[in-house]
Amino acid sequence: MNRNVVLIGFMGCGKTTYGKKLAKRLQYTFIDTDIAIEKQEGMKISSIFEEKGEAYFRELERQTVEAISNQGCSVIATGGGIIKNADNMKKLMRTGVIVYLRATPDLIFRNIGNDDNRPLLMGGNKIEKIRTIMEERKPIYEKYGQVVVDVCHGTVNQITDRILSAVEGKI
Ligand code: S3P
Repeated sequence: MNRNVVLIGFMGCGKTTYGKKLAKRLQYTFIDTDIAIEKQEGMKISSIFEEKGEAYFRELERQTVEAISNQGCSVIATGGGIIKNADNMKKLMRTGVIVYLRATPDLIFRNIGNDDNRPLLMGGNKIEKIRTIMEERKPIYEKYGQVVVDVCHGTVNQITDRILSAVEGKI
């Protein structure tokens, strides 16, 4: 069975967008951990955070990783915080290649500045929040990314091609 392509990176860097395109091009199954969680709970991510709290969401995220970790031939778009749990990453690394989609805070702000389904960025100054969380997480994304693809320049198709050539020979 072919190995998975696992996309990691900050909220709003395009994991879902590029993941869907990659899956089509590779004829792989597309899995999105946030969508899987929303389906399972019948609630939006923002409501899960609001009503049940972040710890509850992280446990759902952990269970989702566990459930998909014996699946191959898939492109897996992960939630931006999946990397906070080393065990999640251990499991995902066993299934395939980890691709870090690298973006600047400005790009993230352009992509999701008006989005209200990102509970960690709600309230207060959004660009400041993005910068602060990015500083915290950058070293972790860098540590786990076996392949790093810059998503700051180019069209969606060009970036998809860039990711595809970066994973070639690794899946
Ligand atoms: C989170 C990222 C979100 C979602 C949740 C928490 C994070 O996913 O899982 O809001 O901690 O970075 P996206 O990366 O798809 O926005």
